[in-house]
Amino acid sequence: MTIQVQVRALAAALLLASPALAPAQQAAVPVPSAAQGKSLYTSFCARCHGMNMVTTGVSFDLRSFPRDQRERFERSVTQGLRAMPAWGTTFKPEELESLWLYVGSSGSS
Ligand code: HEC
Repeated sequence: MTIQVQVRALAAALLLASPALAPAQQAAVPVPSAAQGKSLYTSFCARCHGMNMVTTGVSFDLRSFPRDQRERFERSVTQGLRAMPAWGTTFKPEELESLWLYVGSSGSS
């Protein structure tokens, strides 16, 4: 093998290896999931909306929130609604997405 061929082979090997690096890079940015939403929900929302979204009767039953009204969900969570506090920028966009995925699971996640 000439040096040139070796360099080319090495470059090809690196190219092939690069997709394998992708999952490690993605890990730095949390991927929104219902599971992440559940843990956020438990910390921030359960005291009013009930454990596992089973309402205690004092606030909106999130299990019945319409699934096609994501914009309303984000607006109500960030801006608040009557006795529901406004969360403003408490949640990053991917955390809001996780909360939405969790609400979409009706508490079964
Ligand atoms: C201090 C108690 C309290 C906390 C904490 C709370 N909520 Fe609420 N939430 C309410 C009340 C009360 C309502 C009913 C508001 C109304 O319709 O008058 C409500 C309503 C809602 C609604 C329905 C709004 C609509 O458009 O009809 C959504 C969605 C919601 N809450 C999501 C959340 C999420 C997500 C969290 C956690 C990040 C959370 N809430 C935390 C009290 C709370």
